[in-house]
Amino acid sequence: MDLDAYCTWLSEAGLDAPWSRPGPLIQAKSSRVESCLWRWVEIEPRLRCSPQFVAPGRGAERRILRLANPGVPERTSAHTLSGAIQYLLPGETAPAHRHTPNALRFMLKGEGAYTIVEGAKCAMAPGDLVLTPSMTWHEHGNEGSEPVMWLDGLDSPVVRYLEILKIEPVGADPRVGPGPAHIAAGRTHGSAPTGVGGAPRTIHYKWDDAYGRLLRQAESAASPYDDVILEYRDPLTGASVLPTIGCYLQMIRPGVETRAHRQTSTAVYHVVRGSGSTTIDESHCDWDAGDFFVVPPNLPHSHRQVGAEPAILFSMQDVPLLEALGLYYENW
Ligand SMILES: [Fe+2]
Ligand SMILES: [Fe+2]
Repeated sequence: MDLDAYCTWLSEAGLDAPWSRPGPLIQAKSSRVESCLWRWVEIEPRLRCSPQFVAPGRGAERRILRLANPGVPERTSAHTLSGAIQYLLPGETAPAHRHTPNALRFMLKGEGAYTIVEGAKCAMAPGDLVLTPSMTWHEHGNEGSEPVMWLDGLDSPVVRYLEILKIEPVGADPRVGPGPAHIAAGRTHGSAPTGVGGAPRTIHYKWDDAYGRLLRQAESAASPYDDVILEYRDPLTGASVLPTIGCYLQMIRPGVETRAHRQTSTAVYHVVRGSGSTTIDESHCDWDAGDFFVVPPNLPHSHRQVGAEPAILFSMQDVPLLEALGLYYENW
């Protein structure tokens, strides 16, 4: 029997001999997340046109434009993180549902937006962070007079990979979940229980509070790699805001150029204010307020502020996921 015949014989029994082919026993994926920049000046006009083509409601569920990374076949922003901009016109609502992916909202523009999470109504001012952890009921609306828009961040690529993707509209199973009337009754504080029998956790992080803490931190501590950075941490538990995603607020002060470092984690950045550039391996991305960019894993990256005002960056990063897996390394 030759090797080909042996391999055929193996295959008939559902077996494979990876050593019979060239290359390493464990092959790398055929795709690789790319460093990528999305400009707000290109996003916003397209977002404002989107109501001509889609309405929030059953079926489409949400009016979003996803930040699609050319290195990810599933067209999410990174291999572990999905970022999208959601857009609601005055008076519109996006109906209640829940799903296995964890999600966060970082408010971008407009007044009057709200998210209801397990009955807790969170009014979203620009810069606010609101969480909808796995399997929590949530819905959105716009009570203002102008369109509202925010960043949706999800760990859906990971959940999808794990083959446990589940999305339930309200009313899909009458035995579970609050009906719309219950939700509308809503509490107004900033914490809510997690999805399946969970303990209360903080779900609403207000901009003024986070930005105030960042300014205070600037007086005392800075990182050579990130300049002034703070991680949003749940004041009730001290944990990262979501089990898979950490959120950060960062200031690159005037004149600062950070040292390059490499991390096994991936970051999706949003430029809240200011201008600058990030060097990722050999490429440079110049960013301005409103832009989004991705830093892929293992690539050396450094940030540089440009202009008179400090640059303020919000980011979601898969650090907690990698830490849980024992795979978070820096400068390794
Ligand atoms: Fe959702
Ligand atoms: Fe970094």
